[in-house]
Amino acid sequence: MGSVSLKIGDGTARFKRATLCSSAVNILMIFSVITTNLFAYYAFTSSPKTQLHHVHNNNISLISDHVSLILKEIDVNQKKLAQMEKQLLGYESIDLSRPNIANELKIFLQGHQLPLGKDSRTGITEMASSVGHFCEKNTDLLSQFMSYKVSGPCPDDWSVAQKLILQGCEPLPRRRCFGKTIPKVGLQTFPISLWKNVSNKTVNWSGLNCKSFECLNAKKLSRECIGCFDLVNGYENKRFVKAKSKNDFLVDDVLALGSGGIRIGFDLGGGSGSFAATMADRNVTIVTTTLNIDAPFNEFISARGLFPLYISLGHRFPFYDNVFDLIRAGSALDIGGKPEKLEFLMFDIDRILRAGGLFWLDNFYCANEEKKQALTRLIEKFGYKKLKWVVGEKVDSVGSGKSEVVLSAVLQKPSRA
Ligand SMILES: *[C@@H]1O[C@H](CO)[C@@H](O)[C@H](O)[C@H]1NC(C)=O
Ligand SMILES: *[C@@H]1O[C@H](CO)[C@@H](O)[C@H](O)[C@H]1NC(C)=O
Ligand SMILES: *[C@@H]1O[C@H](CO)[C@@H](O)[C@H](O)[C@H]1NC(C)=O
Ligand SMILES: *[C@@H]1O[C@H](CO)[C@@H](O)[C@H](O)[C@H]1NC(C)=O
Ligand SMILES: *[C@@H]1O[C@H](CO)[C@@H](O)[C@H](O)[C@H]1NC(C)=O
Repeated sequence: MGSVSLKIGDGTARFKRATLCSSAVNILMIFSVITTNLFAYYAFTSSPKTQLHHVHNNNISLISDHVSLILKEIDVNQKKLAQMEKQLLGYESIDLSRPNIANELKIFLQGHQLPLGKDSRTGITEMASSVGHFCEKNTDLLSQFMSYKVSGPCPDDWSVAQKLILQGCEPLPRRRCFGKTIPKVGLQTFPISLWKNVSNKTVNWSGLNCKSFECLNAKKLSRECIGCFDLVNGYENKRFVKAKSKNDFLVDDVLALGSGGIRIGFDLGGGSGSFAATMADRNVTIVTTTLNIDAPFNEFISARGLFPLYISLGHRFPFYDNVFDLIRAGSALDIGGKPEKLEFLMFDIDRILRAGGLFWLDNFYCANEEKKQALTRLIEKFGYKKLKWVVGEKVDSVGSGKSEVVLSAVLQKPSRA
């Protein structure tokens, strides 16, 4: 019985930690404790005459029957508690027994036992397929995404996929259908491709309001993309080599701060990829993250001969620790929400940047002084060396339209024990 009460103790402790916890859980806990005690009471007091007789006959099986009944009851209640905990946390694995779940989703998510049993090097016995846990929040859309003819053409549904990703359903499940292709007429050879206009014909414009890059150029899509598809006549080819304000650093100055050790880097929310192109001119390889919000950024970046990474900022970066020499982030870093969200992001940036590597915060719009101070405090927590630190003021022509505090900085990651 000792181990039994210990188990209940664990459950209570867990629920005390989850302060969200409603009285429903408490009621269930009390119920669980009462039933346990009732069973115990029953086990040792009911029909004393007959049972004592059996016990005197050393009939252990009767007692062990009761005990296993009690344990079963506790087990059921603990499962109920776990279920409630999951619901409170907003996390639950996808219930594949629900109606209207696409069959392909079930097949994809089924675990597959390794044919030769446990793998001695990794210790795994099963190959699991991963999907983001927020996929559960929108199983209808997910099932729509997973409804297709196996080995047939995929539906024209890139916007459904992106909607799921933006809701936190990331990674998406894999599919067994053939994606649409496009002939990609007019691709240039590298490195000429870096600064030549990209042909409209490299993109399938289905599902987008604009049907050409000329159309997109007339729009202010984001702070990272104002006329960013005109690589010839616009400002894009001067962005990182000519300063418009004191907040604009020049790539050559930043590279000089890295004293020759800058070879690979990562650009967060890098618009049409011009930072990566400017760095490619200097033999530095940059991976650019971008989704396709209102424009075919991924197609455009790849047409330039650069590396687009289709991933949201909510996703842990798919890179190992200490791999990058340089990480640049502009206003994309402004992910909103609770301060903890930005903190998680900053820790992930820190993780993939090597010691001595540079973090370039490029024209971060702070809205107000208070936000700037919060960001400054967060950055200072990491103990980076401030190689450049410029606070300015700019009119936010894409966002609020008001004058905002703008922070640009180049920070060097320290080595930590
Ligand atoms: C012990 O109890 C079980 C069920 O309560 C009964 O079936 C069994 O005959 C008893 N055994 C002895 C040795 O009394
Ligand atoms: C673009 O995709 C749509 C929908 O999948 C398809 O009907 C159309 O033919 C494609 N356009 C080109 C130019 O391939
Ligand atoms: C793209 O399409 C627009 C409008 O359809 C056209 O005016 C323009 O010449 C095209 N540009 C290129 C580079 O193909
Ligand atoms: C590139 O596109 C811009 C507009 O988007 C246009 O003004 C310019 O002529 C184009 N240049 C070339 C070389 O096609
Ligand atoms: C880039 O690398 C090429 C080939 O190694 C070399 O010829 C060129 O000078 C390099 N460019 C710069 C800016 O270092």
